[in-house]
Amino acid sequence: MSLEELNNQILKCEKCALCKTRTNVVPGEGSFKAEIMFIGEGPGKKEDELGRPFVGAAGKLLDKLIESIKLSREDVYIANVVKCRPPKNRDPFPEEVDSCRKWLDEQIEIIRPKIIILLGRHSMDRFLPNQKISIDHGKPKRKNGQVYFPIYHPAAALYRNGLFEDLQKDFKKIPKILEIIGKGKAMENKKGEMEQADLGI
Ligand code: URA
Repeated sequence: MSLEELNNQILKCEKCALCKTRTNVVPGEGSFKAEIMFIGEGPGKKEDELGRPFVGAAGKLLDKLIESIKLSREDVYIANVVKCRPPKNRDPFPEEVDSCRKWLDEQIEIIRPKIIILLGRHSMDRFLPNQKISIDHGKPKRKNGQVYFPIYHPAAALYRNGLFEDLQKDFKKIPKILEIIGKGKAMENKKGEMEQADLGI
């Protein structure tokens, strides 16, 4: 199945109650050949209105960060853990995350990104449970052959002093991590983490 065919199926999804309150489904957007896939939590108000991911204030910050590593939205793929907006931007319920599980897994399978950037705690929980974003942000981790890179959610950096600097610093590591993955020489410790020293940062 192509990504377009999959996303057309996602657009019709009625697997959970979020379908009753959404304006638009937000499957995701970007290149189906992307090496980098960003995964956020779920659509907010603006995203729900437009059917596109990260188009509000947090999205503008994400765009800037993507540009800071000399890429644009068209080069990457941007998706969310849940494809429909939880009312009043509440956290998605576990059953909503589960209903969307297959969609996101299938998107990843088609895109096969070299690295999945987990934006914030909820996205990290979906792939790397039992970790803490304040401790584990900026540490790439390989699990079942896939490299994940948890970082702070751009929305958190908008509201909490100091997080933006961390986010910028973590973002700068992305090209280096990709280079290491490309060379197939990612050094890992027992926990599957790339040693920070190997990133040369
Ligand atoms: N926050 C998210 O997690 N995802 C979006 O698409 C927008 C804001």
